[in-house]
Amino acid sequence: MKWLEVWTKRIKSKKSEHEKAGWGTAGGQMYSFEIVKMMLNLKGDELLVDLGCGTGLFAAYLRDFYSGLWITGIDAVKEAVDAAEKRNLLNCTFIQASVGKGQGELPTRIRGLHSAVTSLGLFQNFDGDIFVAIGEANSLLKLNGVFVFTVLNADFGGDYHVPFSVDGKPCRRMSVDRIRKLMDSIGFRDVFVGSFSKLKGELSLDVAKYHELIVRGRRT
Ligand SMILES: C[S@@+](CC[C@H](N)C(=O)[O-])C[C@H]1O[C@@H](n2cnc3c(N)ncnc32)[C@H](O)[C@@H]1O
Repeated sequence: MKWLEVWTKRIKSKKSEHEKAGWGTAGGQMYSFEIVKMMLNLKGDELLVDLGCGTGLFAAYLRDFYSGLWITGIDAVKEAVDAAEKRNLLNCTFIQASVGKGQGELPTRIRGLHSAVTSLGLFQNFDGDIFVAIGEANSLLKLNGVFVFTVLNADFGGDYHVPFSVDGKPCRRMSVDRIRKLMDSIGFRDVFVGSFSKLKGELSLDVAKYHELIVRGRRT
């Protein structure tokens, strides 16, 4: 089964909001939102794109902190985009488009404009090409804009009780070295790769212990 079918089925199901987004717990999802917000360090009046936005939960979360933020959410699943639109969030637009397919699916009118691009938990669960997707994130940013994303970590050591599959489909994981190489080759600078743990409540470079990587790079 393709990832898009997995997500379409999930999003159409009666599961809870965090389960529709593939999270085991609402707290885990919220924790990653908090960490990404911290890494973005927004002023609050920026233009931001969220790739693989799902039903718009992260947009809704950011909206509560920054009323002046302009958010464009992109998701390949129509039902996710419809659910996000139904939230009626001020200054938020949601677009159905595929990331990482390299077929010019992302609207050209939104390129080069944004101070921030985010992507939470997309790259381990999609059928696209990660190199292409990171390039797309780069093309959406203006100079000095930041890209912050989370992805499962291949170096994971095994003390975290989260299944690395969604509906039986194994997730892809990435090593720190591979992420660094991808970010460097695409032209991101000041690249930070860390990990975070709900259990420890901290940001850490000790990536072997924790399952989720957090990555930040700056377009220069
Ligand atoms: C793990 S969920 C994460 C949702 C949200 N970012 C969050 O953390 O709550 C992954 C999302 O990516 C979307 N997706 C999968 N492949 C995609 C692609 N190629 N382009 C855009 N979105 C995609 C799915 O529909 C799903 O909503």
